[in-house]
Amino acid sequence: MIQKNVSLQSYNTFGIDVRATHFTKVSSPDEFRDAIEKDIQPVLILGGGSNMLLTKDWEGLVIKNDFKGIEIEEEQDNFAIVSVGGGENWHEFVLWSLSRNMGGIENLSLIPGTVGASPIQNIGAYGVELKDTFVKLEALSFETGRKNTFHLEDCKFGYRDSVFKKDLKGKYLITKVYFKLTTKNHQINNSYGAIKQVLSDKKITTPTIQDISEAVIEIRSSKLPDPKELGNSGSFFKNPEIEKPQFEALQKKFPNLVFYELPDERYKIPAGWLIDQCGWKGLRVGNTGCHAQQALVLVNYGGATGNEVWKFAKKVQQSVKKKYGIELTPEVNVF
Ligand code: EPU
Repeated sequence: MIQKNVSLQSYNTFGIDVRATHFTKVSSPDEFRDAIEKDIQPVLILGGGSNMLLTKDWEGLVIKNDFKGIEIEEEQDNFAIVSVGGGENWHEFVLWSLSRNMGGIENLSLIPGTVGASPIQNIGAYGVELKDTFVKLEALSFETGRKNTFHLEDCKFGYRDSVFKKDLKGKYLITKVYFKLTTKNHQINNSYGAIKQVLSDKKITTPTIQDISEAVIEIRSSKLPDPKELGNSGSFFKNPEIEKPQFEALQKKFPNLVFYELPDERYKIPAGWLIDQCGWKGLRVGNTGCHAQQALVLVNYGGATGNEVWKFAKKVQQSVKKKYGIELTPEVNVF
């Protein structure tokens, strides 16, 4: 059923109050085909609404992905293949896996959003990315209404990137994602400094996947605001990557430059650090601003419009460009 003139405020974690002229939830291929048959354009696909900034009313159709269900498809000695509906909440799936002692996604605890959205930007945190446990996904085509399967190599995963952000943007609704999770001999990834710190504070020397998840939850809750309390979309910008000559010149000028060395003589500079150094951290302008614990997170203090946030983001972008000569690109999708 297609509803008319629906507020999207509760459907985006920034809490921006815009309206959709047409809105529907789909939980089966038939519902999907019914929805697209009416040919109401343009279409916006909505998962958890946790990685978007809405700057205007949506004059078209909003489709909320509501495909549900978690199933163990296959069990081997050391691993299981699990399929998850695209509309399932990501963190609830992580908790489900931990309760069955299945490993591989514990570092991705507490990431907001849905399972169907997770491959689109190859979600990642604390040394792990979605692609590390991804097997394949099923998606419905807006062109044909039919199901297609995409395997790991088809998805062209990169840092916060996939084919679904590029050539296939807006062309598919992701209905089911398959993961390969370990059932014993879990690969613990505690390489990230903050995780090591929490574990050592708790005197845990041989962490379980549950310990890792708890540490991640502790770190994330201390830095990242809960969207239920303060509207936000996590990291607003991507961490920029620069080439060696630019890096060396910058390091000369700013000896305190924070960076991570990448292969091929490239360097990643944390956007949060750059924004912080430009003096934005904790700064509020009107109803928006930079979070006090993590400058990379822009927040809605209540009543902010999407344009207000976007204008603020552009100011932040300009000041980083002016001081460091680095162009920040949004990690969130701006509509
Ligand atoms: N930093 C500052 N000031 C700040 C924020 C960060 O100086 O206000 C410095 C930190 O001290 C640290 C560095 O910047 O040296 C990196 O900060 P942090 O470890 O918090 O991680 P991040 O690079 O800002 C990325 C992801 C997060 C993910 C964390 C942990 C991106 C764009 N963001 O953040 O992902 O949770 O690493 O792995 O890659 C998201 O995508 O929405 C997200 C939250």
